[in-house]
Amino acid sequence: MKRMIVVIAAFAVVALITVAAQAESKGGLLFGQKCAMCHAVNGKGGVVGPELTKVSAKLKEKDIKAKLENPKKSNPNSAMPSFKALPKADMDALLGYLKTLK
Ligand code: HEC
Repeated sequence: MKRMIVVIAAFAVVALITVAAQAESKGGLLFGQKCAMCHAVNGKGGVVGPELTKVSAKLKEKDIKAKLENPKKSNPNSAMPSFKALPKADMDALLGYLKTLK
């Protein structure tokens, strides 16, 4: 019985890690599709916007979200498009990815 519990616990951990990795890679994928043409991470990507390699050391999650939803709020001349229309799941995945950049 005890062994059974250990086996089930091990499966649960593996499942959790898999879900977390998928969420992160979904965010990374979205970044590649929607942001990388303007922003670089670790030297890879566009130069229209600032490099975001350490964006989460500089900005809080809520500030990044505010920037994505309304770029012109913090900079009326911003060349960055709004991502307000992004589905919530995509926004969350993207923010999850950006949180790892610090
Ligand atoms: C068309 C080019 C373009 C695209 C696409 C774009 N951005 Fe930007 N972004 C900019 C520019 C230009 C700035 C700097 C001017 C400003 O603050 O608005 C900026 C600023 C930012 C900032 C503030 C950085 C800082 O150091 O203050 C964040 C965070 C950001 N972008 C995230 C993103 C994310 C995440 C995406 C994809 C969902 C994205 N951007 C897509 C052009 C872009």
